Amino acid sequence: MIDDLFEAANAAMAKAHAPYSKFPVGAAIRAEDGRVFAGANIENASYPEGWCAETSAIAHMVMAGAIRIAEVAVVAERMDFITPCGGCRQRLAEFSTGATKVHLYDRAGKRETVTMRELLPRAFDGSELK
Ligand code: THU
Repeated sequence: MIDDLFEAANAAMAKAHAPYSKFPVGAAIRAEDGRVFAGANIENASYPEGWCAETSAIAHMVMAGAIRIAEVAVVAERMDFITPCGGCRQRLAEFSTGATKVHLYDRAGKRETVTMRELLPRAFDGSELK
């Protein structure tokens, strides 16, 4: 099924800056207010300074004034059903609940859906920091 989040993630992926890994990734977030924010991975010649597609999408969302994630989509040019890396699971969790849906796609747009709780069980949610 082709949906708007898949399309947004794909459009973002076309803008990836991934000359080192040659592994473009796109992510799209639907905020609870309905707006969609997308991002791609942006690599750097100093390899550790690059960042992931999900991180770009989160930055767009927060800068637009939205801080609650309703659902997430992730796509990769060279991999079916990519899942967010560990660091991005933690970053997504900051703005999600355990029930938040993360949609994983194959390159044709077929979708598998998992929850944040499945991706990041026993998450450190910072509740003790408040
Ligand atoms: N990457 C993402 O953008 N998101 C993920 O969930 C996994 C990995 C990027 C980081 C790097 O630019 C490239 O994929 C290869 O690891």
